[in-house]
Amino acid sequence: MTAAVLTRMWDEPESWTLATYRRHGGYRALAQALAMTPDDVIALVKDSGLRGRGGAGFPTGVKWGFIPQGDGKPHYLVVNADESEPGTCKDVPLLLANPHELIEGAAIAAYAIRAERAFIYVRGEVVAVLRRLHAAVAEAREAGYLGENILGSGFSLDIMVHAGAGAYICGEETALLDSLEGRRGQPRLRPPFPATAGLYACPTVVNNVETIASVPAILRDGAKWFRSMGSEKSPGFTLYSLSGHVTRPGQYEAELGVTLRDLLTLAGGVRRGHRLKFWTPGGSSTPILTDEHLDVPLDYEGVAAAGSMLGTKALQIFDETTCVVRAVLRWSQFYEHESCGKCTPCREGTFWMVRILEELERGTAGADDVDKLLDVCASVAGRSFCALGDAATSPIVSSVTHFRDEYSEHLRLGGCPFPAERSVLFS
Ligand code: NAI
Ligand code: SF4
Repeated sequence: MTAAVLTRMWDEPESWTLATYRRHGGYRALAQALAMTPDDVIALVKDSGLRGRGGAGFPTGVKWGFIPQGDGKPHYLVVNADESEPGTCKDVPLLLANPHELIEGAAIAAYAIRAERAFIYVRGEVVAVLRRLHAAVAEAREAGYLGENILGSGFSLDIMVHAGAGAYICGEETALLDSLEGRRGQPRLRPPFPATAGLYACPTVVNNVETIASVPAILRDGAKWFRSMGSEKSPGFTLYSLSGHVTRPGQYEAELGVTLRDLLTLAGGVRRGHRLKFWTPGGSSTPILTDEHLDVPLDYEGVAAAGSMLGTKALQIFDETTCVVRAVLRWSQFYEHESCGKCTPCREGTFWMVRILEELERGTAGADDVDKLLDVCASVAGRSFCALGDAATSPIVSSVTHFRDEYSEHLRLGGCPFPAERSVLFS
């Protein structure tokens, strides 16, 4: 069940150095790619079925194939390392443990889409990642894996590492591009998608860190090998982040389609003496699931069939001591804070979501406030400018679906039924 591809060298001392990466076959895949035509590299990634690991699961090779050829414009590769989805913690450890896997993948991707400049947009708070990436890019340049005429192939590439300023919305690809161009990061209207008009209005591929870091293995071992893991529509390996009320939180690499039950076995189970109450499959932007969903295959189709989304594969685990209303209030406060304010449904809606949830927790809510909360969500979902508005409604609507009784209990008792000391999320 457990594949060790991305994590294969994480436990080694100095795993982040070029010397260690080379010992594990590092940059062999780049040499292989440069001996192929760019179109053949795209075809290989398409054949592998690799899907974007940032949350949406869009087919990577198809996205690369959208880049127009012979258009006379510069092309850009932008790696989205602005990981900010609550509970999501896979790109940061990957970058700390093995930044060269990303750099090699970026060089292969840039060659395939005929880009001579790539950007890695990192969330600014993670200073340790920034330092490590800067050092790794310098090492790769020194060794001839970046810069002019890479490995004598005639292909040249430079990578620029850019620090964001810590806004969740800058993880949305078009807001990220605005931010990279030096403007306030706010989503752009799509279409046009970045593949046709992205950075500086030029064709741009925006891919998540884990997506790009998965590419060298596909070059090394082939599409068939990649497809031998996971399912037909969701092939390959991936990183799941487990956090919250779990014995051993952390990153677990496994084939797509593993279940939460399997992952909990690896992670030592829900903390001792307690039982699972609810969980997120992919961060707070994905509808919550319950203990009835322990055997749902954690791939795009399996989680969708259970009424949620795979998203970033950030499994936040909550046991029976957690008040679901309080957890949802915390997430809603996050969305209210991070709403960029560009569109009215999200800007106003997230404000009202928090106010109503606060009243429910405080015991000052009225009898019809749960329905009012759902009404607010209905006026935001599908009516906001970008995915953040929809995401803000996910934990609320799904928690009412699964735990309406707990909302009713707040109304009946005039406040939170969970003793204050037990209401903390991660005790
Ligand atoms: P999306 O489904 O709209 O787009 C996915 C990708 O496919 C984008 O790169 C888009 O440009 C491309 N694409 C889609 N249709 C296209 C077309 N017709 N032509 C060309 N390109 C096309 O999803 P979106 O809004 O980019 O991302 C939402 C996801 O982000 C959510 O599912 C959520 O899980 C995830 N997310 C991840 C976070 C993180 O920290 N990693 C933070 C917040 C959300
Ligand atoms: Fe900004 Fe929210 Fe509208 Fe997205 S949905 S554009 S984050 S206000």
